[in-house]
Amino acid sequence: MNSDFKRTLVTAALPYANGPVHIGHLAGCYLPADIYVRYLRSAGKDVKFVCGSDEHGVPITIRARIEGTTPQAVVDKYHKLMGDAFKDFGISFDIYSRTSSKVHHQTASDFFKKLYDKKVFTEKTTEQYFDESAQLFLADRLIVGTCPRCANPNAYGDQCEKCGTSLSPDELIEPKSTLSGSKPVLKPTKNWFLPLDKLQPKIKAYLDQHSDWRPTVYGQCKSWLDSGDGLQPRAMTRDIDWGVPVPVEGAQGKVLYVWFDAPIGYISATKELLPDSWEDYWKSKESRLIHFIGKDNIVFHCIIFPAMLMEHGDFILPDNVPANEFLNLEGDKISTSRNWAVWLHEYLTDFKDKQDVLRYTLCANAPETRDNDFTWKDFQARNNSELVNIFGNFINRTLVLTHKFYEGKVPEATDYTKEDLIVLQELTAAPDRIAASIEQFRFREAVTEWMNVSRMGNKYLADNAPWNLIKTNAERVKTIMNVALQISCNLAILAEPFLPFTSKKLFGLLNLHEMKWSSAKNASNMATGHAINKDELLFSKVEDSDIQVQLDRLEKIKKENERLAALKEASTETPLKEIKEATSFDDFLKMDIRTATILEAESIPKTNKLLKLKLDTGVDQRTVVSGIALYYKPEEIIGKQVCLLANLAPRKIMGIESQGMILMAENSKGELCFVSPVNNGFQNGSLVK
Ligand code: MF3
Ligand code: ZN
Repeated sequence: MNSDFKRTLVTAALPYANGPVHIGHLAGCYLPADIYVRYLRSAGKDVKFVCGSDEHGVPITIRARIEGTTPQAVVDKYHKLMGDAFKDFGISFDIYSRTSSKVHHQTASDFFKKLYDKKVFTEKTTEQYFDESAQLFLADRLIVGTCPRCANPNAYGDQCEKCGTSLSPDELIEPKSTLSGSKPVLKPTKNWFLPLDKLQPKIKAYLDQHSDWRPTVYGQCKSWLDSGDGLQPRAMTRDIDWGVPVPVEGAQGKVLYVWFDAPIGYISATKELLPDSWEDYWKSKESRLIHFIGKDNIVFHCIIFPAMLMEHGDFILPDNVPANEFLNLEGDKISTSRNWAVWLHEYLTDFKDKQDVLRYTLCANAPETRDNDFTWKDFQARNNSELVNIFGNFINRTLVLTHKFYEGKVPEATDYTKEDLIVLQELTAAPDRIAASIEQFRFREAVTEWMNVSRMGNKYLADNAPWNLIKTNAERVKTIMNVALQISCNLAILAEPFLPFTSKKLFGLLNLHEMKWSSAKNASNMATGHAINKDELLFSKVEDSDIQVQLDRLEKIKKENERLAALKEASTETPLKEIKEATSFDDFLKMDIRTATILEAESIPKTNKLLKLKLDTGVDQRTVVSGIALYYKPEEIIGKQVCLLANLAPRKIMGIESQGMILMAENSKGELCFVSPVNNGFQNGSLVK
């Protein structure tokens, strides 16, 4: 850590106020940020920790519609729920604010105005989908249609959740408004764009100064800069009615893009926390700004927000952005909509007072360098074999023996052996080692180092077995127990960032006030004669049956999700069509249907529905254009036999003359499939009658 800094402002991503908090949130940024901040405070540094709810954006308006209420009611509900969950788990924000606050609206609005007045934005009129019956422009999320890649009929205008492709609304086949079900029309609208293309050189120079960031973060930024044509202008205003109104002429009905206003929320929160001195944290070269986020937020914090700050000109830029990768749950992506998550408030009902166990597990297994998996088995093992058996066991033995041998008073260390001195030296070296890991944002490593101190203490007691030695060498046992008590106290100090509840409890058992980090650099915090309090267990075992309850719950959710998916599939089945009006036998005889083999197949540029086929009809070879590209790849169908309506009048399709039509059947999902001839191996040209 660059120690030239006087102050540090730590932020954790403002979570969307549209759902409760789960372990993925905690592991992603709130826990590492909290550990970092608690450490800095303990080390006596000037640090502020700000966060709040991100209360704008389209998903919140959608949630309101689903719940039959207003966006304001949605954010009020979740703001409270999320704030409480963070508090319950000891996330020690100095302020948990919200972006619907007055201060924030003003701050975001002023920020936009400043960029506008500096002529930073480019004004552009683009065509956006408009719902004529609802009379409003549709956010990408509010448009559904068929995915051009996988033919999923329920793809969103920004993404197909079936195949994962990110889309833009104009790529959807047969787009529909989710508000009215009607077909949206394209309508021109004016918006203000941040010209990231023009700013790219400045952004690049900034990122080049930070090649020391986590490789996952730096790498992602680089690939944004290097991909295709580089950065593209991005609209900073949107045509929706929930958000911060755009504060300029001619912007009626428009609001700031949620990713424009949300990071400004960090500034607003600081203002609210420190009305008189917030600028010290944002405008002084002696301050540094650290953003804790999840990896899906990297581009916004490393590129777009810094670009906004640079163009504004008054503010410092982020000094580091230690983003985590994702945490999965039992091998599956955590998902709020599929209820595939461990919710913090539910965890607490099942594991009362075990916040630190979850904190410990999530830190020891943090997704720092790659995605990681949370499993209940691992949780149980971390609790039983580490917290209970190593740390808890060491502390408990120390406290119990101190009561048993010395009526709870710290005995005097009289004579250290060489081995004692090695242990004490290790002990007093630990704070710097752990600090170095934390300062480099390596929290897994840090918590492991901390557990190693317990491991050392545990081994020290086991090797010396004071419970036996007391019978033969009572004098020596005094020193041993004194050393064990010093270790216990320093463990309490060093545990504070990771396990704040346990640290507090342990200080209580030791009958001490909480101490600062630097106190752990000496081994004399427990004065001879100091009386400790009655012993109590710090942790209890997690039983197999406790874990089973959780696994059963997840199993039930999995089953329910499968049922819902099947239902959804069934509900999108195309209804059977009625039999058409009667036709005459003569008309039927007019149709020349015969077998043919597909000799060649190729895709046609500029369409994703059509394939150009070359067919052997037995009597000739001919070209047919067929609308099956969504369901078959060209190479899959070469050699297949089909029925061909051979005397259909030729038609030009995409500039290609199509000589006939192949016959396919539609399945229940509306996909076209080969049906006949059932057996390949007909002579081409055989008539179908
Ligand atoms: N709400 C966003 C999310 O949950 C994070 C916003 S972070 C901020 O992904 F910088 F914009 F505040
Ligand atoms: Zn798809």
